[in-house]
Amino acid sequence: MALSIDSRITLNDGRKIPVVGLGVWQAAAGKETRKAVASALECGYRLIDTAKMYGNERDVGAAVRESGIPRDEIFVTTKLWNSDHGFDAALRAFEGSRRDLGLEYVDLYLIHWPVPRLRGESWKALLKLREQGLARSIGVSNYTIPHLEELLKSSPIPPAVNQVEFHPFLYQRELLEYCQGRRVQLEAYSPLTRGSRLKHPVIKEIAAKYRKTPAQVLIRWGLQHGLVEIPKSVRPERIRENADVFDYEIESADMARLDALDERSHLAWNPDDLP
Ligand SMILES: NC(=O)c1ccc[n+]([C@@H]2O[C@H](COP(=O)([O-])OP(=O)(O)OC[C@H]3O[C@@H](n4cnc5c(N)ncnc54)[C@H](OP(=O)(O)O)[C@@H]3O)[C@@H](O)[C@H]2O)c1
Repeated sequence: MALSIDSRITLNDGRKIPVVGLGVWQAAAGKETRKAVASALECGYRLIDTAKMYGNERDVGAAVRESGIPRDEIFVTTKLWNSDHGFDAALRAFEGSRRDLGLEYVDLYLIHWPVPRLRGESWKALLKLREQGLARSIGVSNYTIPHLEELLKSSPIPPAVNQVEFHPFLYQRELLEYCQGRRVQLEAYSPLTRGSRLKHPVIKEIAAKYRKTPAQVLIRWGLQHGLVEIPKSVRPERIRENADVFDYEIESADMARLDALDERSHLAWNPDDLP
C-alpha cells in the first residue's frame, strides 16, 4: 500500500512508529517549540522527537496534551543524555524527562549516544522501564555495528530503533542492511543535512524533475530506503512541506544518483570514535 502521513512501521516489539515525525532539536524552549509541535500535529504528524538535551521536553508535553488528540495516537520519543548514564542515574533521568513532559509514559526512550563503559548498565535501566510500561519501546541512537553487536550479545531483547544521522551524503548502507537483517528500525536524523546541502545540483535537478523541493526529495529518499524520517522545522510552511512527500515516488535511477552522493561525511560527532 502507498505510504501516507498516517503510515506506521511495526517495530520488533509489535508497537507501531509513524514513518515521518517532527524533530525539535534547536527549537527554542517556550513558544517556539509549542507552536512547532502544534503545527505539526495539525498537519497530521503523529511522531515528535525530543531529548532531555534539547531543553524543550516541557513544551513538547504541553503541546501534546493541549492538542486534544488522544494520547495513544501520538508517538513521543525522548532520550537519555550522556551525563546520565549508569543504572540508577538513567532511571532518575527518565523520571525527570517523564515529569517534564507531563506524560504517563513515553513511546520510545533512546540512549542518545553509546557512552563508553556505562552504556550496558544504562540499557538495563531501559529494560526495566520497558517492563514497567513507562517506556513502551526502547532503543538506541548513534550506535554503530560494533555497538549493536555488543548490545545484542548481552540483552534479552534487541533495541526497537537505532536513530542515526542518515542522508545521501552519509548513506550508511552497511548499517542499514545490518539493522534490517535484525529488525532494528533505523530512524534518520538530520535528514535535511540541517539545510546545508539543499542547493546541491543533483538534488535540485531531481527536485525540479518531480516538481518537489530539495527537502521533499531528501525525505522521500529516506522513506524509500525504509527509514523513519524526523525533519526539524519551526516554520509552519516548512513543517507542511516536509510532510508533503506522499504523492510521488523517486524512480530507481534517481535513487541511485542520490545514493552515489555518499561522502561518508558526518555533520554530528562520528560515533565510530566511541570505543
Ligand atoms: N539522536 C541524535 O543524536 C540526533 C542528532 C541530531 C538531530 N536529531 C533529531 O533529528 C531531528 C532532525 O535533525 P536536525 O535538526 O539535525 O536537522 P534537519 O532536520 O536535517 O534540518 C533542520 C534544518 O533545516 C531547516 N529546514 C527544515 N525544513 C526545511 C525546508 N523544507 N527547506 C529548507 N530548510 C528547512 C530548519 O530550519 P527552520 O527550523 O528554520 O525551518 C533547520 O535549520 C532533530 O531535530 C532531532 O530531533 C537527533
